[in-house]
Amino acid sequence: MYKLITPYASDFGPRRGGASRPNVVIKHFPDTESYVFIPKVASLKNKKVTIYHRLFPEPDKRLFELVLILSRVVKETKQVELLVPYLPYARQDKEHEPGDVVSADVLCGLLKTYGVKKLITYDCHFLPKPGNFVRGGLKIENRSAGKQLLAYAKKYFAKGKIREKFIVISPDQGSSYFVQNAEGYAMHKKRKRTNKNDIKTEVHMENKLNELMDVKGKNICILDDIIATGGTIRRAAEHLKARGAKKIIVGAVHGVFCGDNIAEKILKSSCDEIFTTNAVINNSNQNVKILKLKLV
Ligand code: R5P
Repeated sequence: MYKLITPYASDFGPRRGGASRPNVVIKHFPDTESYVFIPKVASLKNKKVTIYHRLFPEPDKRLFELVLILSRVVKETKQVELLVPYLPYARQDKEHEPGDVVSADVLCGLLKTYGVKKLITYDCHFLPKPGNFVRGGLKIENRSAGKQLLAYAKKYFAKGKIREKFIVISPDQGSSYFVQNAEGYAMHKKRKRTNKNDIKTEVHMENKLNELMDVKGKNICILDDIIATGGTIRRAAEHLKARGAKKIIVGAVHGVFCGDNIAEKILKSSCDEIFTTNAVINNSNQNVKILKLKLV
């Protein structure tokens, strides 16, 4: 097996300490176009190749760089796997309004067309749970960092000699698989477009949690696949706080944080701690605890 590591994935390393040396060169021309060079390309001949890459930030650019890499790799081998811990374009996974383009299908079809035989990713938004799936003709192995997040939450609430109890909650039904092994609860979320001509949405939490459980005086760990604008987590945490929750911590696999100080705003509103994995590298939100994703 041959590992091709792009400069955006140099921390996925198999070596101790985590760092691997990238063996794909990616540079940018003065006009911003991307340039790709694979120095030892002949060594890939008929081998099984796994490409390690990140498709975020700047997903469009990262994707095109990937297409350039694939276009050269498939000349040497047809056995190509791709590992990207966060799959962008996965949230537009349905045609909500006639005319909406389902980018999740387009992306899967594109990867397949360019020769990816299997995609390995983590907590992919359009998949209901970890496991093996096919979308747009592409084989997908969806791994989960849920257990890693839960282990961190257990440690958090075990600081000192007292091991405090906590309840695990997912903010919506889509991420309910995070709470299944933790005997937790999934909230009910509704998203509404703020304005017909705008793609921004507002998040509302339905009051169904009250029927299921009483959170008064309880510690809570909210787990989700992704924090993007932070709207979901903020609403969920506020909802729980308003019903008397004690300490609230938040774990998400993908810390996209699209905007400045998103984490800070969540922390200010109702949370005590936010933790994510390094599936997405994001330097604009400093107060987030980052867990190194376990690449199995
Ligand atoms: C949605 O279904 C996901 O599980 C996340 O809750 C959502 O995508 C987070 O987005 P935002 O942070 O913008 O609310």
